[in-house]
Amino acid sequence: MTPPRPLPGHFISFEGIDGSGKSTQARILADHLRDAGHDVVLTREPGGSPGAEEIRALVLQGDPDRWSAETELLLFTAARRDHLERLIEPALAEGKIVICDRFADSTRMYQGTSRGDLRGKVDVLHSLMITREPDLTVLIDMDPAQGLARAKGRQGVEERFEDFGTGLQEKMRAGFLDLAREFASRFRIIDGARDIDAVATDVQKTVVTYLAAAR
Ligand code: ADP
Ligand code: TYD
Repeated sequence: MTPPRPLPGHFISFEGIDGSGKSTQARILADHLRDAGHDVVLTREPGGSPGAEEIRALVLQGDPDRWSAETELLLFTAARRDHLERLIEPALAEGKIVICDRFADSTRMYQGTSRGDLRGKVDVLHSLMITREPDLTVLIDMDPAQGLARAKGRQGVEERFEDFGTGLQEKMRAGFLDLAREFASRFRIIDGARDIDAVATDVQKTVVTYLAAAR
């Protein structure tokens, strides 16, 4: 049986490789749930609180070799702790639905598995400083070449990770699918290689089914 939720709200995360459509789908889902009368907080990682947004600029901009995987792990964890304390947990305590574009599964993948073999350290830090897992994680799965082409089309300054290239993204896709098996009770996999509306319809069905069962 699924353990009871620790706080009255619902915590939903989106995960997937760069450019898979997480931000687009998180936004559409937030609008859909608001239209249905829910109180929704849409947020993202790294970031989501003023302090964590400052850390976001440190980790996402600049040379790909700017930080080691270990230092990144500390920075992402510090940002997440601040985000949890100041935004996520207060919103969940008020019964809101929190939709978060990436959460700890991204650290398990990017710092834990793909750039180095730090999964043990990631897990220890998570259990010391974060503990919380989402109630539901929507994994937008798709071919990395297609995702990277979409992400590159955005032309931003936050390209440090995208600059690691398709090799890293291939590892990431496989790693996310492994995580979906490891945390099967909260993960749902959605095929992201379709038009935006088709993906959004699947995401809505998945979340509405989860909410109905969670009441
Ligand atoms: P992520 O947050 O996963 O990096 P985004 O939602 O920012 O992805 O999408 C990356 C780019 O691809 C954006 O320009 C977005 O408009 C576009 N995009 C998102 N979903 C789709 C889709 N299903 N088909 C085509 N383009 C898409
Ligand atoms: P994001 O803005 O979601 O990028 P995108 O929209 O391209 O998917 O996240 C920025 C980058 O930060 C992304 O490449 C993944 C990386 N990241 C980590 O390495 N570790 C983490 O814990 C998180 C949350 C993100």
